[in-house]
Amino acid sequence: MATYQSRLRVLSIFGTRPEAIKMAPLVKALAAEPGIESLICVTGQHQSMLEQVLDLFDLKADFTLDVMTPHQTLNSLTAALYAAIDPVLEQTRPDRVLVHGDTTSAMVASMASFHRRIPVGHVEAGLRTGDIYSPWPEEMNRRCIDLSADLLFAPTGQSRDNLLNERAQGRSLVTGNTVIDALQMTAARIDQDARLRDELDRQFPFLQTGRKLLLVTGHRRENFGEGFLDICKALRHLAQRTDIQIVYPVHLNPNVLGPVTEQLGDLLNVHLIKPLDYLAFVRLMQHAHVILTDSGGVQEEAPSLGKPVLVMRDVTERPEAVAAGTVRLVGTSPASIIAGVDALFDDDTLWRRASQAANPYGDGHASQRIVDVLMGRVVEDFVAGQLQSQHEPLHPLPREARELSADFS
Ligand code: UD1
Ligand code: UDP
Repeated sequence: MATYQSRLRVLSIFGTRPEAIKMAPLVKALAAEPGIESLICVTGQHQSMLEQVLDLFDLKADFTLDVMTPHQTLNSLTAALYAAIDPVLEQTRPDRVLVHGDTTSAMVASMASFHRRIPVGHVEAGLRTGDIYSPWPEEMNRRCIDLSADLLFAPTGQSRDNLLNERAQGRSLVTGNTVIDALQMTAARIDQDARLRDELDRQFPFLQTGRKLLLVTGHRRENFGEGFLDICKALRHLAQRTDIQIVYPVHLNPNVLGPVTEQLGDLLNVHLIKPLDYLAFVRLMQHAHVILTDSGGVQEEAPSLGKPVLVMRDVTERPEAVAAGTVRLVGTSPASIIAGVDALFDDDTLWRRASQAANPYGDGHASQRIVDVLMGRVVEDFVAGQLQSQHEPLHPLPREARELSADFS
């Protein structure tokens, strides 16, 4: 076994709910690798929404920074992150930093490491819409990170092609997305434990039999203002349907929470609830008939669960599930959101086509591939098509969830 001195010191830095979910399986795999000394730095860009993820995956941060302020602006957040992250780099002097995705925490952590000439590995590299204002500021963040990283862990072949087309300097490998590792770990816990399922279901006493569930999430900065008012208009209209029920766990960002509560708070058929712990949210996705979202992570998870997704954006950096037919872009205009939802609720053939389980984003082994790359082992690329033809559907809708979904229909 490697001695303490020869271990590779890897510092994972992340700060928001989706990064924590997607980094959790990876930091667990890093910790299990004898050749690696794994350290975790949580920036505190999100507080309550992130803590639940650490608890769920039984992780303990070595450094917890405290950068979040209510209504934080991109520049105030960026400045606070540089000031808070640099001393951690100074103290730990890691051999490598790992960051995930496209948040401001990830961008600043990668740039602060670059300034100190610490090699950076970018998990979920190569996603592109081609428009630096959508998603904003994430498209710019991910480009910055990809420029500063020497290891680029692309989730799909298409994301690696984006990196190759840009002649990215780092080495890129297709690993699959670690979100599928996290989802499979979490769904397996739910599927194997009837008591846990009952406990989770008790969190949704408002769900009625005889109505199909439209699950909604939304938080993108580019939708603030007009965009959110339009989304709410569409939901007010859809709430009049007597065959559906709408559940919306509302993001804590005041620019989301404010308008959503004001516009939809009085509707009996719209259940506005607090952000759910990941375990409960996965359970709610299992119950959903259709998911309406602007989230990146949900776009990746839902196809694995065989749930049709309508994305309230004009462009997506995740075209794979659109190609597979489980995701459709509907923008944010009330008319197109309403038409998209109505079509899926009224046309069974369309719904069945869109609810075929598709797994373009991973096979549940992305984290181990990343660890193997760090340890210099030979790694075979994740290739979605091949793996799907060689294995059972990677994450079919569990039987209990199918039965429950039928209960609600
Ligand atoms: C951030 C990321 C976005 C990611 C999203 C996931 C940036 C610029 N944005 O957006 O890429 O998709 O997280 O959710 O990195 N708040 C709380 N408690 C929490 C979390 C947030 O109160 O646990 C409130 C605070 O008032 C905070 C505000 O939400 O100021 C905005 O948080 P911020 O991280 O700046 O932006 P998000 O919209 O959450
Ligand atoms: N999620 C959660 N609780 C919720 C809503 C979402 O745990 O109430 C999970 C979801 O399953 C996905 C992640 O949070 O893994 C997505 O986070 P978000 O939409 O905030 O960010 P994005 O993916 O758009 O960056």
